Amino acid sequence: MKKLIIINGPNLNLLGKREPNIYGSLTFTEFLEEITAKYPDIDIAYFQSNIEGELIDKLHEVGFSYDGVILNAAAYTHTSVGIGDAVSAIETPVIEVHISNTYSREEFRHRSYISANAKGVILGFGLQSYELAIQSFL
Ligand code: DQA
Repeated sequence: MKKLIIINGPNLNLLGKREPNIYGSLTFTEFLEEITAKYPDIDIAYFQSNIEGELIDKLHEVGFSYDGVILNAAAYTHTSVGIGDAVSAIETPVIEVHISNTYSREEFRHRSYISANAKGVILGFGLQSYELAIQSFL
């Protein structure tokens, strides 16, 4: 069985209540229930943290044994050399995802420290961005 993990960065624990016009009104727990039911043949783990170092620790922990990482580093995407370095340090392929189309938003969201080290980038499809990333590992 393929083993994937979704890693979500800061403020994504508030999905469902946070700016629903941008991020939608579904909670991530509801979304995960749907997705795990839809893909019973994949083991999909989930981790969320608002703390940069915890995200780096999790990448190190899974990055030599899992088949894939789906990473939405949220605001740290645009600031964190440390998370970018962790993505290039590990062996497991990482797909960078974003719910919103960051290129249609403020200039500071156009820079990503993850993209150059990721296997691919999927953004702008709402929560479906995560599902498209899952499908890319099938
Ligand atoms: C986000 C986009 C980021 O710019 C923002 O800081 C987020 C969420 C997205 O999924 O659209 O927190 O990563």
